[in-house]
Amino acid sequence: MKKNELTNSTPIYISSRRKFLKTAGLASTALFTGLTAKNNISNNLALSYLKEFCDFSELPNDFIYLNNGTEGTMPECVMSSLKTNLSKWTRNPTYSYELDRDLGKRQEYNREKVGQFLSVDKNNVCLTDNTTMGISMAIMGLNFKSTDKVVTTNQEHPSVISPLQIWRSRQGLRLEIQSFPPPEEIRSMSQNELLDVLFPNTSALRGAKAMCVSHVYPTTGVRLPLRALREKADELKITYLIVDGAQAIGAIDINNVNERVNNCDFYACSGHKWLNGPPSTGVLYIRNSEIQPPEFYPTLSQRMIRYTDGSSNYPIAKALQIRGCSNTPGFTAMVRAMKFVEEEGGTTIIEDYILNLSHEVKNFFLTFAPNCIISPYTDNALTSGITTFYPFKWNQPQIPIKDKKTATWVSETLLKRNIQIRPIGIPKTGTSYGSSEKSYALRVSTGYFNSINDIELFKSSLKDVLKKIN
Ligand SMILES: Cc1ncc(COP(=O)(O)O)c(C=O)c1O
Repeated sequence: MKKNELTNSTPIYISSRRKFLKTAGLASTALFTGLTAKNNISNNLALSYLKEFCDFSELPNDFIYLNNGTEGTMPECVMSSLKTNLSKWTRNPTYSYELDRDLGKRQEYNREKVGQFLSVDKNNVCLTDNTTMGISMAIMGLNFKSTDKVVTTNQEHPSVISPLQIWRSRQGLRLEIQSFPPPEEIRSMSQNELLDVLFPNTSALRGAKAMCVSHVYPTTGVRLPLRALREKADELKITYLIVDGAQAIGAIDINNVNERVNNCDFYACSGHKWLNGPPSTGVLYIRNSEIQPPEFYPTLSQRMIRYTDGSSNYPIAKALQIRGCSNTPGFTAMVRAMKFVEEEGGTTIIEDYILNLSHEVKNFFLTFAPNCIISPYTDNALTSGITTFYPFKWNQPQIPIKDKKTATWVSETLLKRNIQIRPIGIPKTGTSYGSSEKSYALRVSTGYFNSINDIELFKSSLKDVLKKIN
């Protein structure tokens, strides 16, 4: 909805992308009962729009953006927080950097707010530029020895692969790389089946120093629930559970007991993807706020001195926070994005909404091309807002097409119609870490700003485009 529509006599909810608490509730019901009424909204809801206006109004109404997995888009209140704080900084830069509660280098206030969102203490929270930075702080901070081993999978993002490769090259760290089963198997697996295949109780995995995995995989959309991961790590007597939450935060209900971040020893995530915060924002959660050298080093920090001058109780998250000038207007806006989630009714409502849209996408493939869907659909515990599928010729839906050229062509052709999804490479089962041997699929991210109407338009356009593959 455009801002100036507020002054229009047309009911303001008609063209809105916005999903308020009640919208989400109604939309969920509609989806479960097979309805597709986007605008089944009461007048009460229209009033709530007027009370406090925060919509995804910058995203053009005719742009069907289904790529939250790469970048989110800010709702108006988040962008306005960013602009206001950039102005505040500009008016008084030195005060802002040194002392301002929101913009200062120590970030005590924003860390506290992020802590509340994650249900943890501020001393467990360091604000980062992105997931890559948080993961690197965690993996490079630990004191791995050449005799240590680390369990990981063949589908990690380069932000996890890269620091592990540094340890392997420098120190000879052993990596136990567990292959995901092929997509044809993953899609109908249950949580327990998948976790047992990925992390069997074998001597190769037992006693590893760390398990480095993702909460939600950008390749297949598989979600690995955090409590189940913790239980696996404990069963295998693995010391540290390090989780890449880039594709989870803002989409997964972290208030659900199965998904609390405090199941992990380190959890790194982005503010700029599913949370719809600004660019260059992220969070690193560190469970043991008292961890310190030689167990863990603050690798990107100006405060190593605190651990060498005899004062030993300096919180490591604080040491990692103080690292020169950061994007503090962005952090303040990220906190606003978290408040937006609460205003919408909280993480459970948001996850529900996102999953319902993703079920609509999954149902399309289950109906027309069940061989081509990759993302899991039988066990809800494994599902996320990401749906990946192989393209196919509309008249040959039983044959998935797995090359890069086709996936890229479909994605580019949809983009010409103002629909953004993306091609994604899926490492082949049994290939080495970071291998370029991949099959290529398409990824649809159903975000909180999307509507059922967006999904309907996506499906009909995709059908048209698939008919043109020759
Ligand atoms: C699983 C995963 N980890 C890490 C990243 C990198 O995220 P960031 O840009 O926040 O560092 C991505 C980005 O797509 C991702 O999908």
